[in-house]
Amino acid sequence: MVTRLVEVEQTRGRLAGPPLTPRTAVIWSVLRAELDRRAGTDLTVLDVGGGTGGFAVPLAQAGHQVTVVDANPDALAALTRRATDAGVADRVRAVQGDGDALAGLVEPASVDLVLCHAVLEVVDDPAAVVAALAGALRPGGAASALVAGRAAAVLGRAMTGQLDAAALLAASSSGAAGSRDTHRRRFTADEAAVLLTAAGLEVEEIHGVRVLTDLLPAAVADGQPAALLELELALAAQPPWRDLAAQLHLFARRRA
Ligand SMILES: C[S@@+](CC[C@H](N)C(=O)[O-])C[C@H]1O[C@@H](n2cnc3c(N)ncnc32)[C@H](O)[C@@H]1O
Repeated sequence: MVTRLVEVEQTRGRLAGPPLTPRTAVIWSVLRAELDRRAGTDLTVLDVGGGTGGFAVPLAQAGHQVTVVDANPDALAALTRRATDAGVADRVRAVQGDGDALAGLVEPASVDLVLCHAVLEVVDDPAAVVAALAGALRPGGAASALVAGRAAAVLGRAMTGQLDAAALLAASSSGAAGSRDTHRRRFTADEAAVLLTAAGLEVEEIHGVRVLTDLLPAAVADGQPAALLELELALAAQPPWRDLAAQLHLFARRRA
């Protein structure tokens, strides 16, 4: 299913921009299906921790109105330049703010699609952020959440010979490796789904992003990019492969 959607995306006009890599292909496929479902409607999109606009700008190029809330002013400046270069500055709004205080920044029930990618593992209170994301959605609106995977962090350390670190991480209740870890937590698919469900969202799909990519020697990943992308897409939806991915992508919806 995902592979077919990517093939369609590569040959279609409106969202032709984003490069399809192991980091993005599965996510774009899931988002593409939602955009197709809402075809003909210019959506209101909120990207929390959207950084330099890797998703926001292509969504604006597809005709949607996108607000990016991010804590980092440098990332927002790069986003604004990118939106200007792409000719969509009028459809991208950059808001400096803390995801933990999202409820005060976004009007309730005003958003059709909310993105929160690679953020829930670093914020103070992920439950509060997800509650705010859910509150920002209109009934029937959709959420795209990307979180750091717990199993991949253990495998990654073990594969590079850091067996003590792998053992510590495997035993950690948060999935983080202490104060020097850049992440405050990591998730299993079940933990991430529980987080979204507790905020009143219905999880519709879970995919793994980068099941193999980070574990392979660079010569293999760089030498066979098309085969790797195809294999990633084939494994993305299937446990147990899905659950070993570096990131887990959850697509959820606020009840209509
Ligand atoms: C790893 S980057 C991900 C960027 C983008 N979402 C993506 O997937 O490419 C994390 C982003 O979240 C932002 N961020 C981190 N903590 C935040 C917070 N508490 N509130 C808002 N943004 C935050 C960072 O500034 C950064 O731009």
